[in-house]
This record gives sequence, C-alpha cells and structure tokens, in this order.
Amino acid sequence: MSAKPIIVFKKISDMRRAVAQWRAAGESVALIPTMGALHAGHVSLVEASRAHARRAVVSIFVNPTQFAPNEDFSAYPRTFEADLAKLADAGCDGCFAPAPAEMYPHGFSTKVIPRGPALAGLEDRFRPDHFAGVAQVVAKLLNQAQADCTFFGEKDFQQLAVIRRMAADLDIPTRIFGVATLREADGLAMSSRNVYLSAEERAQAATLSRVLRESAEKIAAGAAVGDVTARAGREIEAAGFVLDYFEARHAESLAPVASRAEGPIRLLVAARLGRIRLIDNWAVG
Ligand code: PAJ
Repeated sequence: MSAKPIIVFKKISDMRRAVAQWRAAGESVALIPTMGALHAGHVSLVEASRAHARRAVVSIFVNPTQFAPNEDFSAYPRTFEADLAKLADAGCDGCFAPAPAEMYPHGFSTKVIPRGPALAGLEDRFRPDHFAGVAQVVAKLLNQAQADCTFFGEKDFQQLAVIRRMAADLDIPTRIFGVATLREADGLAMSSRNVYLSAEERAQAATLSRVLRESAEKIAAGAAVGDVTARAGREIEAAGFVLDYFEARHAESLAPVASRAEGPIRLLVAARLGRIRLIDNWAVG
C-alpha cells in the first residue's frame, strides 16, 4: 500500500533543487544513504528520521570505490523496483539513484583519506581501502543533498565513527544521527548480505549476537574484559565461523579497553561463515 508517490532523482541537480525547495518552504529534510537491497533495518532509518525532519530522501548507490577487487561489487544484490516500493510504503519523499557516471564522471580525481577511527584496527585490518571509499561517497552525498540531517546505522559502528569524524573535519553542516541495529527474531542483525546465507548458515549466524549479548552481560557483571573477549572468540570459532576479530573498544574513540574503568565499552565482532562475512556490535551496560 503506497501512501504517496516517491520522486526518483537521477541527477544531483534535481535532488538538490527539491531539497532546497523543501527547505525554503520551512520543511526540514533528512538524507539516508544506502546501497539498496533494502530491508527493515534501512526502513528503520527512515522511521527514525521522522522525529527530526519533515522530508526524507533515501539515496541508493552501490558505491564501487568502497569495494576491494576481491569483494562482491558486481554480485551485490540490486533490487531497485522492490526498494522503491518499500520506500513509498515507508512514506519516503524522494529516492536519489545516480548512475556511476553521475557520481564519478570522467576526470574525477579526488580522494578522501580518513584517519582516526578509520585506523582503529577493526574493519580496516581486513578492508584497508574500504573507509576511504565510504568517506569519499558520503562526503559527496552530504554535499550533494545539503540536507538538515542524515541517518546511519550503528550496525556499521566503525563506519558511523568514520563518518562523524569526516563530517566534523570537513565542516559539513549536516547533523549526523546513529540508529540502533534492527535484528531478526533470533538476534541476527539485518543485512543485505544475509540473503546469501544457506539455511544451515542462517541458523548458525545467530551465534554472533548471542555471544555479543552474553559477553556484554558478563563484563557488565564484573568479569575481566580480556577473558570474556578471548572466550567469545573461541565460542564463535567452535560454532563454525572463521573469526576476524572480537574486540572490546571504547564506544567513542574505538581505542582498545582493558576494563570498564576506561569508559563506555562497545563489543565488536567480524566473522565469516562460508563466503559470507558478518559484522555486529553490542553496547556493554
Ligand atoms: P548499506 O549497507 O546499504 O547500509 C545503509 C545504512 O543502513 C547504513 O547506515 C547502515 O549502517 C544501515 N543499516 C544496515 N543494516 C542495518 C540494521 N540492521 N539496522 C539499522 N541500520 C542498518 O552502509 C552502507 O550501505 C554504505 O557504506 C553507505 C554508507 C551507503 C556508503 O556507500
């Protein structure tokens, strides 16, 4: 049931004009960047924007510069018509869906190299150029839209920290909000890549969020951080994953933490099941 028609912008200039007109009419505007293959987690970002903005624009762009050559850029799920229907149902006002040449025209030459949280030793250890691609495309999207606010999921916790840092450093005048992770009934964090899990892998996948939750509870109850993370890693491997990391970090700086006295802790995990790499994270306390 589509509440209202959704406007599809292919050109930066068309989106920017619509956003400027809404803002001139006194309506605040939210931008929600995505790569499509939309699921309820993406829709929850649109819903979260309602509390802060009258209008919502979702961008759908599978950004080639954030995929490494060995990653799944060409196989990344593309479901544009279904995505548009979901956005219309969610009451979204606009969808910005640029072609690659609109984002990276001939002669494009500028990189954005994030440091700080982008070098925390988490995702960057396994995807060394990933956050440069993310920072580049998000800087462009925020400049293109010139929205009042923008929404990102805590699901990609390091990405959110990188984007906050980049926007502050480059003086991008858009307020940035983080939104809690939406999960399946068994706790698995919703992700566009979950569709690739076999039935058996899908059943195993819930281990990640369970171990995160139990580990957070143990640390909150006073257990030693290093003992808990080491045990969590072993449990995840025993469930059939190849573990990339299971780490306790400061929730804001992403610096390693050895005890609760060092500040708010976030547990972060990345692990592979067959060919699918899953990431998730959990707050302690
Ligand atoms: P994508 O993976 O499509 O995710 C788009 C946004 O949805 C991100 O902010 C992500 O954190 C959020 N999201 C994903 N799963 C979620 C869940 N289960 N609950 C809540 N939010 C969730 O992240 C990207 O795209 C790209 O890197 C992008 C920022 C668009 C730059 O290309």
